[in-house]
Amino acid sequence: MSSTFHDKKEQWKKEADKVTERFPERKDTFETSSHIEIDRLYTPEKIDEEYVEKSGFPGQFPYTRGIQPTMYRSRYWTMRQYAGFGSAKETNERFRYLLEQGQTGLSVAFDLPTQIGYDSDDPMAEGEVGKVGVAIDSLADMETLFDQIPLDKVSTSMTINAPASVLLCMYIAVGEKQGVSKDKLTGTIQNDILKEYIARGTYIYPPKPSMRIITDIFSYCYEEVPRFNTISISGYHIREAGATAVQELAFTIANGMAYVDAALKSGLEVDQFAPRLAFFFNAHNQFFEEVAKFRAARRIWAKIMKDHYKAENPKSWKLRFHTQTGGSTLTAQQPDNNIVRVAIQALSAVMGGTQSLHTNSRDEALALPTEESARIALRTQQIIANESGVADTVDPLGGSYYVEHLTDKMEEEVNQYLEQIRDLGGAVQAVEEGFMQREIHHAAYEAQKNIENGDDIIVGMNQFQIDEEVNPELLRVDETLEKNQIQKTEDIRNTRDQAKVEQALDQIKQASHDEHTNLMPLILEAVKAYATVGEICNVLRKEYGEYTGM
Ligand code: 3HC
Repeated sequence: MSSTFHDKKEQWKKEADKVTERFPERKDTFETSSHIEIDRLYTPEKIDEEYVEKSGFPGQFPYTRGIQPTMYRSRYWTMRQYAGFGSAKETNERFRYLLEQGQTGLSVAFDLPTQIGYDSDDPMAEGEVGKVGVAIDSLADMETLFDQIPLDKVSTSMTINAPASVLLCMYIAVGEKQGVSKDKLTGTIQNDILKEYIARGTYIYPPKPSMRIITDIFSYCYEEVPRFNTISISGYHIREAGATAVQELAFTIANGMAYVDAALKSGLEVDQFAPRLAFFFNAHNQFFEEVAKFRAARRIWAKIMKDHYKAENPKSWKLRFHTQTGGSTLTAQQPDNNIVRVAIQALSAVMGGTQSLHTNSRDEALALPTEESARIALRTQQIIANESGVADTVDPLGGSYYVEHLTDKMEEEVNQYLEQIRDLGGAVQAVEEGFMQREIHHAAYEAQKNIENGDDIIVGMNQFQIDEEVNPELLRVDETLEKNQIQKTEDIRNTRDQAKVEQALDQIKQASHDEHTNLMPLILEAVKAYATVGEICNVLRKEYGEYTGM
């Protein structure tokens, strides 16, 4: 090993040892079952310029091999199961069950009315209350949701986009009621409206006002909620819509750049908000391509943030991400087969260096998961972490000829897409022009065609089928829930200080067109007065209008 690069490795070792002061490694020594010692990191004997430029060392730019020097030797990824259905009480019980079973982070699934800013008693909400997630109308529901869950001890992700400002304010208000100040709160709001226009659909307002609310959240959290991740720039749903791995990565990074541009335009400095940008990717089939996708993602983003945006804080260069195994790969046929699919997909996320992971349950092609299915999904992560040994050295597939080739190839093809999107004027224009949607639809069509003509085998679905009864044991959401939830919200309306609510809503209305006033403190006042998600979102619907499709 030439001296220059020998020093680099020695320097990396020192840096890594420093980090272990706050995050000591899980064991003094790591060994295989045959007592062969496992080193923290394996590199080529001869480390040259190309190695340092392309792979480097974990915890160092460009982070190809991971964002932390010791990765899972110090701390496993967060086991963070997406959960939520029915009432806040039912979901609180599932949260506490999963925490008792060893999950290490929370992830809230909201029902569609909440996600699109309607209260449970809004005509638009009929039939959807509590169906695909938990129904949250007012702060009272949020208090129930986190009952007996200390917000200074757990980080919470909230899959909420258009109304993200409202739900974050409710979370802050619950923290205050628990005696946890907002600067102690940790977690993430998804808050990624661009992918909603592209693939998921839970948008409310047109792009311009939506981006203003997002950048208000960035600046408010920089000042007041510094440990909270202000956005989870998502590729998951883009992939679920049929994108390829390269498109998933390219369109997500392009969206990420659009948020950075919007934040800079709003007057923020890049190092003020970039450290709290986070990402969310899919772990799909094709194991090695997924591992390469995650490794390439870190390298691409690190170069963009350092070289293009001139960010100086290394935390601005690090791409930190959550992964969910691919929902669209689950089959309704032979649902137990999904346990195997999820295990392989989860392994790719771990071998790719994810910071947080959700593993799908075997029955999710049929319904929301039963408690037993959710437990098996969590156990899948715990077995990978504690029994497989893959967490005992950093980036174990680094150096594989195939994985390094794929990582380079992904980077090359993603950069080609980024060039095309830049030529269109950036992600917002590309979405308005329908470029990403067209690319995804074409890829989805090709993928579906290959399944239907049998070129691509889906075990149990187009080969190896059996005659099977319909799965008996599925989760059913309580039909009386909608009525009870509506009653609860009406009771809140009848007991709150209505004048206070109206005054708070009026202040939001007044500020909605004043880009120099941050909406967050006003929304916080409104939620503390028990104004509802729908009431607050309706004020902004009146001022901004609703987005009607690109
Ligand atoms: N060495 C040193 N420090 C380490 C370490 C190590 N090995 N491992 C962890 N740490 C530190 C981290 O730096 C961090 O400290 P900091 O806050 O001071 O920086 C702390 O330990 C916690 O670690 P992470 O931040 O890595 O882990 P989190 O789990 O807290 O955060 C995240 C991960 C990706 C940054 C965050 O954004 C997150 O949790 N995202 C989750 C998003 C999510 O769950 N989304 C679900 C969406 S569901 C959906 O949309 C699908 C539906 O539509 C179907």
